Amino acid sequence: MSRIWIEKTPEYLNKEISLYGWVDSRRDHGKIIFIDLRDKTDKVQVVFSPDKEEIYDLAGKLRSEWVIEIKGKVNPRPENMQNPKIATGKIEIEATGLKIFSQANSLPFDISNKSESVNEEVRLKYRYLDLRRQRLYQNLVNRHRIIKLIRDFLSDNNFIEIETPILTKSTPEGARDYVVPSRLEAGKFYALPQSPQQYKQLLMVSGIERYFQIARCFRDEDTRGDRQPEFTQLDLEMDFPTQNDILQLIENLFKELIIKIYPDKRIKEFPFPRISYQEAMERYNSDRPDLREENDKGEKDPNELAFAFVVDFPLFEWKKEEKRWGAVHHPFTRPKLESGETISQTIERIKKDPGIPLADQYDCVLNGNEVGGGSLRISEPKLLEAIFEILGHQSEEISAKFGHLLKAFSYGVPPHGGIALGLDRIIMILQNEPSIREVIAFPKTGDGRDLMMEAPSTIDSKQLKELHLKTFNS
Ligand code: AMO
Repeated sequence: MSRIWIEKTPEYLNKEISLYGWVDSRRDHGKIIFIDLRDKTDKVQVVFSPDKEEIYDLAGKLRSEWVIEIKGKVNPRPENMQNPKIATGKIEIEATGLKIFSQANSLPFDISNKSESVNEEVRLKYRYLDLRRQRLYQNLVNRHRIIKLIRDFLSDNNFIEIETPILTKSTPEGARDYVVPSRLEAGKFYALPQSPQQYKQLLMVSGIERYFQIARCFRDEDTRGDRQPEFTQLDLEMDFPTQNDILQLIENLFKELIIKIYPDKRIKEFPFPRISYQEAMERYNSDRPDLREENDKGEKDPNELAFAFVVDFPLFEWKKEEKRWGAVHHPFTRPKLESGETISQTIERIKKDPGIPLADQYDCVLNGNEVGGGSLRISEPKLLEAIFEILGHQSEEISAKFGHLLKAFSYGVPPHGGIALGLDRIIMILQNEPSIREVIAFPKTGDGRDLMMEAPSTIDSKQLKELHLKTFNS
């Protein structure tokens, strides 16, 4: 007999079926044993009566979270026993067979509980149990549906998904790199990508024209509720874009996503309002303003989605401690050109007073969170070199760090631009969760540890030697 999902059981009235899953609970009423059997789709009531002696005795041993198979007949429940609140409430399974696959120790916390009452460290240590809970499961299901919709939407818009390397070289996004020592080249290191930024620009040189990736990014920075050391971006890049092309694409993607997956939610304003950085700072004192309305009680409606694009950021910011200019977004971001200006004139203008020029940069903001950022890029090698100089790089360093990009741009590069959306943050907001940890299957703690795997961990001296490394303890 092939497996039937529990949510489908009402369709098999009066038939014999086979169900698999976990014992959710057991109740004994007089001589009759009831269990609720749970699989990922639903729960259903199973009845064991004493006349089937062998399986009845076995059923007497069942405890919560044991993994079993039930064979049984789908019977209508007597009218007064029906439970209209649940989808399988009009039927029950009269067990004719029972197989136990796995017993279970009692769980370290009650998985039927709302998580708020359970210590998060315990939840993360036993994450595989935490994920048995409906709420977390539903977060993963919707995460999957969102990513699937994104893949379909962008494929329909002529984008193709391309994987870029995880073992790579540092690309500046403003955080520290995670590094991986090379075994074959003593003293050399790979860096894990803070984003696929340079690869996606190189793909534009390759004539891919429209790229996207559901990309894992790695940043060694202090984590918070909306930050993880590794997180997922929807990363995309296209050639010959205007800023408007990219912003409209993102607006339409969100519109479709909300209509199809979150029909109860409402986008406050469409097209999304576009606010200059200066206006955002003046009016809201924030470059990621929360534009939701408050009701009389000062509450915000969780089903209201106030998107906005913040545009026209300054190109550079003065880093006081380091006494140098830094890129507000990243060094590949294009300065806004003044009409009729040649590239040499642009270079002269931005070198004269780096604090003044604006950038073709945009952030996507949702309910007070920065959920995306992107820009049009510099594709003229001369201009890119000038930006690196303003950022304080010496010319040798420029060719060592970015020579590949400058060289690539000498072989015919289309104007290009793109954006990356922080998927974890977006899913967190759409699922009404307080932290991105709730929408990531195996997240890390605030101090970057995986409590379940106990990572990071030490490695043995043989491994260290192979990697040409010495630690202070080895
Ligand atoms: P940026 O650095 O702005 O742009 O990142 C894009 C979006 O990624 C999300 N994000 C994070 N989410 C969780 N944890 C983190 N530590 C974290 N850091 C960033 C944010 C952010 O808006 N390469 C450029 C994109 C481009 O120019 O096309 C980039 O990575 O939601």
